[in-house]
Amino acid sequence: MIENLTSDQRLAMTSGAAMWATVGYPNHGIASLTMGDGPMGIAGGRVDERDVALLTPCGTALGASWDLDLCTRIGMLVGGEAVRCGVDMVLAPNVNLARSPLAGRAFEYFSEDPLLAGVLGAAWATGLQTTGTAAVVKHIVCNDSETDRDTMNAVVDERTLREVYLLPFELCAQAGVGGMLTAYNKLNGEWCSEHHYVLTRIVKQEWGFDGIVMSDWFGTHSSSGALNGGLDLEMPGPARFLGAKAADAVARGIIDLGRVDDAAGRLAHAAQRFSREKSRPIVEDDAKALLVEAAAAGFVLLKNEGNLLPLEVGADKRIAVIGPNATAPCYQGGTFAKIAVAPDALRPLEAIEAIFGSEVRIDHEAGVDPQPRLPTMDVRPSRDIGDGCVAGMTIDYYDGQGEGAVLRTSETRDTNSLVWFMGVHDDVVTLSQPGRITASGVFEARTGGDHIFYLGATGRTRLRIDGREIIVRDEAIPPADVMGTLKGGDADSASLELHAGQKVLVEVDFEFTPARVQGLWYGIRRPDTPEAMLERAVALAREADAVVLIVGETSDASVESKDRDDTRLPPEQVRLIEAVTQANRRTVVVANVGHAFDTSWDSHVAALLVTWYPGEGFGEALAQVLSGQREPGGRLPVSIAYDESDYPAFALTPGPSGDLSYSEGTLIGYRGMSRPRYAFGAGLGYAHVEFVSAALSSQIDPVRVDVVVHNRSARAGSEVIQVYRREPELALAGFAKVHLASGERRTVGVNIPRRSLQTWQDGWNDINEPCLFVGRSAVDVAISLQ
Ligand code: BGC
Repeated sequence: MIENLTSDQRLAMTSGAAMWATVGYPNHGIASLTMGDGPMGIAGGRVDERDVALLTPCGTALGASWDLDLCTRIGMLVGGEAVRCGVDMVLAPNVNLARSPLAGRAFEYFSEDPLLAGVLGAAWATGLQTTGTAAVVKHIVCNDSETDRDTMNAVVDERTLREVYLLPFELCAQAGVGGMLTAYNKLNGEWCSEHHYVLTRIVKQEWGFDGIVMSDWFGTHSSSGALNGGLDLEMPGPARFLGAKAADAVARGIIDLGRVDDAAGRLAHAAQRFSREKSRPIVEDDAKALLVEAAAAGFVLLKNEGNLLPLEVGADKRIAVIGPNATAPCYQGGTFAKIAVAPDALRPLEAIEAIFGSEVRIDHEAGVDPQPRLPTMDVRPSRDIGDGCVAGMTIDYYDGQGEGAVLRTSETRDTNSLVWFMGVHDDVVTLSQPGRITASGVFEARTGGDHIFYLGATGRTRLRIDGREIIVRDEAIPPADVMGTLKGGDADSASLELHAGQKVLVEVDFEFTPARVQGLWYGIRRPDTPEAMLERAVALAREADAVVLIVGETSDASVESKDRDDTRLPPEQVRLIEAVTQANRRTVVVANVGHAFDTSWDSHVAALLVTWYPGEGFGEALAQVLSGQREPGGRLPVSIAYDESDYPAFALTPGPSGDLSYSEGTLIGYRGMSRPRYAFGAGLGYAHVEFVSAALSSQIDPVRVDVVVHNRSARAGSEVIQVYRREPELALAGFAKVHLASGERRTVGVNIPRRSLQTWQDGWNDINEPCLFVGRSAVDVAISLQ
């Protein structure tokens, strides 16, 4: 295919054509490929609440399902979304590992265990690729944290690298993924985007990978280093180091032409493979049902004293639904791949009312502020612009600033945060010249009292209420600082007393100087005090027969480029848990958190259910699990420690020289934690499945363990059969999820992949007579095999 291209054309293929597109030569049968960001769905790229797409559970929630078939179906669903959006390559799955619970993107990772992450990641990618769309597995390698991710140097020994951090990528390569995205960081002193040993020796030569190796966005550092190291494609375009920018190095013979041909050939091959026939997306209703099923499949029930769950409708006549996440659920993380959720997705409170409402009285109190950072902007548009919108601010875009500014266009936006990118929003706003944007809406006070107004922006901005200026941010932000201001999201605030029923006109004026991105954010906090909110919640808990207390994170809790400081819930939520569980022992705490977290408050909690970031199926899945229509099918894909100091890897700040030492070696997660609070693999479900017997049924590759399981309960249910090896350290060797009808007895074959029974020392070596056991978790041995 590339035979008819000139050498310049071949070289041009090594860099992207644009933000999301590769160079193509349709006349030569090589299509330009369109990329889209994942993994929780297909991100729109516009950061616009109107670009609604399907939102799946996060990686950790899928990891908690331990279910290959489910991950394959979720991959297919995302592939269908890619087809709908015209995307040929999806930047997902993310198979980096949850090495520390502080990692800003821990929610995207399937697990702390490389086998679980790799097997499920490969299943997801296989599902996605059945739609004719490429999976680009990311980020190779050791991008397991965010602090200084652009400069950090991960220091990792060879055995750990092979057995732990590269293993998920190896399994995805075996599954035939179309591409790999290199990490921003360095590995043992070399940039991952030009790491010859990893990209060329291991990935391409040892694994025989024939897909494309591409850089993470703006993560290329040189022309010859990258191409000679094994990078095939610099993203995004236009070229900074590769493509035409590498012509000089090619002319001087520093880059071998054969290498350029190999890179171009790989892209041409991908264009053949992924730009053509696509299958049709899954129909909408089936997709929504799958999202509910998948969310519940990842819920992990850690405690269930007195079988509080499922709730008994006869006995529980009055249920209090308390907590901030009942109405402000955290569906996803706050990365650039954020997805706009359909407005009709039921929030937990609404879904619980829908399921229990006719037989049970449901009352709600938030207990703490659901929007602690930036409240919503709960207004009606100031003008009818004929778009049918009845909620949100009227936004007016002007060319120029001051009195002479000319109105260009208007729209209604029902969000408290707006972002505009140059090259993406050119049809509405010109960001390359000084400009002005105004926003206006009508706010109605429900109760009398002090209302707090918030405002922030990447330029000069002011806020008027009924013509009176109450916030002025007059400082012009230099273009270089704009991104930092946007990411920081800091807002000014001012308080104003309004009486019940009072309607006021809210007007925002924003003037900016040219920059690549601009943002404006605002909100109004209605009157309330923390003490009053807590008191009302406790009083409600006292009166109820049972309490569902839904706590957790906000959607800006997990972000790119930043790790967390600790694993604790906010102190006001812990206070709420303590007060509510004291007021009512029949309390189910639902934790909507995307990573391992501190649960030292759990001794008085009767039932504890972890939902992770479950995607848009959250509300319905939760209501169905509380009512017993579905069981919580998950088992922990990460360990939860007693104390933060028990995590084998915790702090993520590199040393002064930029080194982040992976000094725990292969002892990641449970492998290095002798005394977990909740062990890797643990979780309860509603059925009781007995492990009757287990035997090695095949000693050759793959080794197979046959396990007889028996569902002794009166309901259908699932179990995760986990096989561990004890030496040279405890490690998951294989697993299988099984769904059983009530009373069903079945023999399940658990495949043990070859790598599970090997260690690396100057090459892969088989472990001599490995000691295996079948367990319900890493510490709960059911049957020893030797
Ligand atoms: C992230 C990638 C993502 C890419 C494109 C990068 O900042 O690290 O995971 O795929 O941006 O949005």
